[in-house]
Amino acid sequence: MSLVKLENIEKTYETAGNYIRVLKNISLSIEKGDFTSLMGQSGSGKTTLMNIIGMLDSPTSGKYYLDGKDISKENDNSLSNLRNRFVGFIFQSFYLIPYSSVLENVLLPIYYSGKDLKQHTELAKNLLGQLGLYDKRNNKPNQLSGGQQQRVAIARALINEPEIILADEPTGQLDSETARDIMEYLTKLNQSGKTILLVTHDHATASYAKKIIKIADGEIVT
Ligand SMILES: Nc1ncnc2c1ncn2[C@@H]1O[C@H](COP(=O)(O)OP(=O)(O)OP(=O)(O)O)[C@@H](O)[C@H]1O
Ligand SMILES: [Mg+2]
Repeated sequence: MSLVKLENIEKTYETAGNYIRVLKNISLSIEKGDFTSLMGQSGSGKTTLMNIIGMLDSPTSGKYYLDGKDISKENDNSLSNLRNRFVGFIFQSFYLIPYSSVLENVLLPIYYSGKDLKQHTELAKNLLGQLGLYDKRNNKPNQLSGGQQQRVAIARALINEPEIILADEPTGQLDSETARDIMEYLTKLNQSGKTILLVTHDHATASYAKKIIKIADGEIVT
């Protein structure tokens, strides 16, 4: 069974009486263990599609099966539970909380999910160790480099042990060497079984993935 299966997804935005069709008839599947890059030009609909897959946004029409379950009619509360359980997000701008420590930032999803804090504090320290940031755990994000901040965001994305990592231009703000480190870490994560969907317009970044899906003007192209 596919982890994610989209059938004929459409997304239309209305602004001041004008309708724009941002996603047109999108059908795709993501299997457990996949590492997929979603590529396309600026404005092609990558983030919109990512947000729908991550249940941050809902499609105008079409079907979304998550692990075989049709989630099209779920309410907001049930969607946020599914999101917490299934998805870890990594963004281009790291979205760390400036006045919280590195460790607290990693634990943020746990404060929301109501899971055991003590147990997850150990996991958070473990993840920070794997990412070479254990010694920075009590620092504030602005005391870290961009690459280090993105690694904090990766630890935060992993703390709930999600089924899938959604990364929207995760290396967009990083120099090429730091970007390579991040991509190598994501590759290692995938090799250990984590499913990853990566949005990028950069070919070098996309080439780390095992599959590439191209989108142009809201449609999947081959
Ligand atoms: N909330 C919104 N309301 C209206 N239009 C929107 C909204 N969000 C996105 N759009 C439009 O949808 C289209 C696709 O946007 P999207 O952010 O998905 O593109 P993208 O492929 O992620 O681009 P980029 O590479 O620049 O991040 C764009 O034309 C954008 O202006
Ligand atoms: Mg985008």
